[in-house]
Amino acid sequence: ETHHPEGKFRVVVTQTLPGQRWIEILTTADCRIEVCRTQHALDSQSIRAAIGDRCDGAIGQITESWDAAIFDAMKAAGVSAYSNYAVGYNNVDLGAASRAGIPVGNTPGVLTETTAEMAVALTFAAARRVGEAERFLRGGRFAGMRPDLLLGTRLHGKILGIIGAGRIGSAYARMMVQGHGMQVIYHSRSANPGLESFVADYNRFRVSQNLSPVSCHRADSLETLLESADCVSVHTILDESTRHLLDARRLGLMKADAILVNTSRGPVVDEAALVDHCRRHPGFRAGLDVFEHEPDMAAGLAELDNVVIVPHIGSATRWAREGMATLAACNVAGILCGYPLWRQTDI
Ligand code: DGY
Repeated sequence: ETHHPEGKFRVVVTQTLPGQRWIEILTTADCRIEVCRTQHALDSQSIRAAIGDRCDGAIGQITESWDAAIFDAMKAAGVSAYSNYAVGYNNVDLGAASRAGIPVGNTPGVLTETTAEMAVALTFAAARRVGEAERFLRGGRFAGMRPDLLLGTRLHGKILGIIGAGRIGSAYARMMVQGHGMQVIYHSRSANPGLESFVADYNRFRVSQNLSPVSCHRADSLETLLESADCVSVHTILDESTRHLLDARRLGLMKADAILVNTSRGPVVDEAALVDHCRRHPGFRAGLDVFEHEPDMAAGLAELDNVVIVPHIGSATRWAREGMATLAACNVAGILCGYPLWRQTDI
């Protein structure tokens, strides 16, 4: 699929993106857009073949590994702009991109609330056993309401552990504090004074309503957070320091009836260890949007009743996905029009 075939700049987009605005932005910047017709992630060789001998810009997917060979090929083809269609960029060899002199854009902000909403959805789906209950009903086992049928966990007022209190982690914390009176303990590279002052302000309202204030503080250590939280939600980036951050030992520190939610990146959790942990602790629940080796899942995971799983759709609202496409197009078009890569914040 090609848009604006007479355009001056050649831009390769590995998968078609939702909406029209991204197309208008790139064509207004005089780009000839070539969309690879595929529903699947391209491998390194196919991406290099798509880039070809001459190319000016590219937009790629989180499911593709944008490695050094691709950036070398892009440099040789004259590419000067790349954007990931994602806020995360663990799929990009940033060192190789910088050696090739190609700036790497991403799409932060537009997906913050949407992804936090998915974390909330998974939290309650896990706490209230929504997946299990639906399977029960669809399986024809419902014989009428019963006082002890599928009892779940009440989260109101309980302790929420946030791992990674950046944009999405903070939005999720805000939703859970304001909506559900949860107490927050967070683990983050630096303190989050904005989140702490949000909770302090919100407490003025609570006190005025004769409700007890909620607490919000940074954890001394990840271990303290895991030991004390009733629900832990992961919002950290994936890099070598966070790979298997939640391993068997750390999962073992969590309360036996705790909830673990992951909408960040699968490899942050040792998935085989999680399967084992969920098997041994039937009261433990997990809500997962991401997996260690997508699209595959660890053996046994999908069979567990105490796990709710969805297929990496954290940012999948039309609004967010069209917004991501718009940002990715702006990243590339801006550079091709002679501007330095514009960043909302440092990545
Ligand atoms: C992201 O943006 O990093 C998501 O994982 C894909 O939407």
